[in-house]
Amino acid sequence: MLLSPLAERNWEDVCSVLEEVLENQSHRELFALELGSGTGQHVTRFAQKIPFDVKWQPSDIKDECHESIKAYIAATKAKTVMQPVHLDASESWEKWAGIARNSCDIIIAINLLQYSSFKTAEGVFSGAGQILRQNGLLMLYGAYAINGIITPSSNEDLDAELQNMNAEWGLPDIDVLRQLAYGNGMRMERMIEMEEYNKCLIFRKF
Ligand SMILES: C[S@@+](CC[C@H](N)C(=O)[O-])C[C@H]1O[C@@H](n2cnc3c(N)ncnc32)[C@H](O)[C@@H]1O
Repeated sequence: MLLSPLAERNWEDVCSVLEEVLENQSHRELFALELGSGTGQHVTRFAQKIPFDVKWQPSDIKDECHESIKAYIAATKAKTVMQPVHLDASESWEKWAGIARNSCDIIIAINLLQYSSFKTAEGVFSGAGQILRQNGLLMLYGAYAINGIITPSSNEDLDAELQNMNAEWGLPDIDVLRQLAYGNGMRMERMIEMEEYNKCLIFRKF
């Protein structure tokens, strides 16, 4: 079972935003897809904390993450969390583990776009544009640039660190994401300031 100290620090704040944005749809069963689930800490905590009827589908490209997610599901006895699926978000939606078009109420990606190439950002928006139902939400959490500018210096350091790890990684620009959203039938509805200079971006499919 993998443990991410960062996930331990941020899950509760992210969960509060999720609860708030899902509340007005909570009268029916919802289907939530998590991209780049990593350890599995987030999805299992969300399932325990959020009082609505939500079926959670975790996913990742790495086998070691699948093992960890399964271990968290078993340890927390989370009945509403499905077994993890292999899903490479940079691929076209037809390869997203057989998830049907217009089937998803919310797609969540926490610290995924920062730790992957721009091709993944493109894949996330084009996949979300197909897989979300009308009015469905895409929620992205992490640190971002705005109009080419990164603040504060701790986020500049993070961007440099990410690019050192992999030249294709780094903080995505919100203006670029907004354009990707628009090109895929979504609009950015909210930008919520979070702890440690992170943001939650909420996009809605129209
Ligand atoms: C920084 S970790 C974040 C994990 C988790 N969301 C969290 O916040 O603890 C990024 C995760 O994204 C996954 N990932 C990277 N590229 C991906 C892609 N193209 N499609 C799906 N997952 C990807 C990695 O395997 C890793 O688990």
